[in-house]
Amino acid sequence: MDNSGQNNNERIFITGGEKLYGKVNISGAKNAALPLMALSLIINEDFKLSNVPDLADTRLMLKLLNDLGIKSIWKNGHVNFNGIAQIDEASYELVRQMRASILILGPLLASQGSAKVPLPGGCAIGSRPIDLHVMVMEALGANIKFDSGFIIGSVPSEGLRGGKINFPKISVGATESAIMTAVLAKGQTIISNAAQEPEIVDIVTCLNKAGANIVGEGSNTIIINGVEELKKLQHEVLADRIEAGSFAIAASITMGDIEIKNIIPKYLESFLKALENTGSKVEIYKNSINICAYKRPLPYNIFTEEHPGFPTDLQAQYMTLMSIADGECEIRENIFENRFMHVPELIRMGARISVKNQTATVTGVNNLKASKVMASDLRASMCLILGGLAALGTSEVDGIYHLDRGYENLEGKLSDLGANIRRSR
Ligand code: EPZ
Repeated sequence: MDNSGQNNNERIFITGGEKLYGKVNISGAKNAALPLMALSLIINEDFKLSNVPDLADTRLMLKLLNDLGIKSIWKNGHVNFNGIAQIDEASYELVRQMRASILILGPLLASQGSAKVPLPGGCAIGSRPIDLHVMVMEALGANIKFDSGFIIGSVPSEGLRGGKINFPKISVGATESAIMTAVLAKGQTIISNAAQEPEIVDIVTCLNKAGANIVGEGSNTIIINGVEELKKLQHEVLADRIEAGSFAIAASITMGDIEIKNIIPKYLESFLKALENTGSKVEIYKNSINICAYKRPLPYNIFTEEHPGFPTDLQAQYMTLMSIADGECEIRENIFENRFMHVPELIRMGARISVKNQTATVTGVNNLKASKVMASDLRASMCLILGGLAALGTSEVDGIYHLDRGYENLEGKLSDLGANIRRSR
């Protein structure tokens, strides 16, 4: 077992060459569920979340919250939270397994008046600093210091007060920290250069249902007027646009035809435009999209950007599609400093890719070759699964505990679409 409690020896075998056809229902978004679950620290009674994806990361976040004293019942995608934190120190054992644990710092400070959170580690895609999260806490009046690998925060007796937060660079997590910490602070907080991700809109929608007073979500300026308390509420977690994009590429790379359901298509606009430029047919409906392809993809340059640009979380998956394109293209990663860990593994599958600084040049080949490959991070694992779907022969993807962090029942969903895929030890 590795640290995340997953069986480290599990691997996935895929026999490629099958065209994928049918419908897939997209699960709730990991990157909405994690901050939404952290809200249980400041919504003290009867907070009901539905459409919560059953993932290693959401299970870990729940353990972290239970460890702090929050009560919860998890049944069929519904999680009911009750109670308040009983302690202000988060477990090192749990925090070090997941970067997103930093999201509990703000709500814990806001609810307890103090917090002791281990510094979350970096990960394969980058050092993942937290300086912007600290900047937020200090802008709202908290005192922050570091001691033996812990972030130690305390709030003055008069409590947190609203302030101006002007981000020098856009950060999804730090914007979420700012919202979740300012919502109960006294007075007004103005966040400039805020991230505009759909998951942030989902958090604000949830908080406003609980009686918060927040406007501007989804734009680069968010205004929060602090309130005394948050009331009980129910909220459905937003659908996972990254899972949806991953299945769209599965349709294109196998030249199949898939209906991707329960999503908000506008949240995938940049990605779908790029996919159309590779020659896939994209049909957009109210809560679903239909993707099909009849021939080898055309090359199309992309660069990752904060929302509403091309999402960095779909860069690796897109690279797999471009590795069999009929020509050469460039893929530039602008968000993380080391998000090309999947390149050597795709090259093992026969892809022709060269990397210079933050740009990968991909020269398409006719076919990928089935190979034994190792996943390095969550989205890289999906990229390799997509490679296995396209490669002739049987591929073996190791290190799939990464996959289990962010994709719910992936093999089941892919098998239902006709993929020849199985998991084994
Ligand atoms: C969120 O990470 C997502 N994770 C990531 O998804 C996603 O890739 C990322 O946003 C960008 O969209 C969750 O929502 C749980 P950032 P986050 O703060 O908040 C730098 C996945 O695969 N930065 O927007 O950590 C940072 O190093 C994951 O699902 C600082 O410099 O991302 C990066 O270069 C991977 N200081 C850039 O900002 C800080 O204090 C953007 O990071 C914080 C971030």
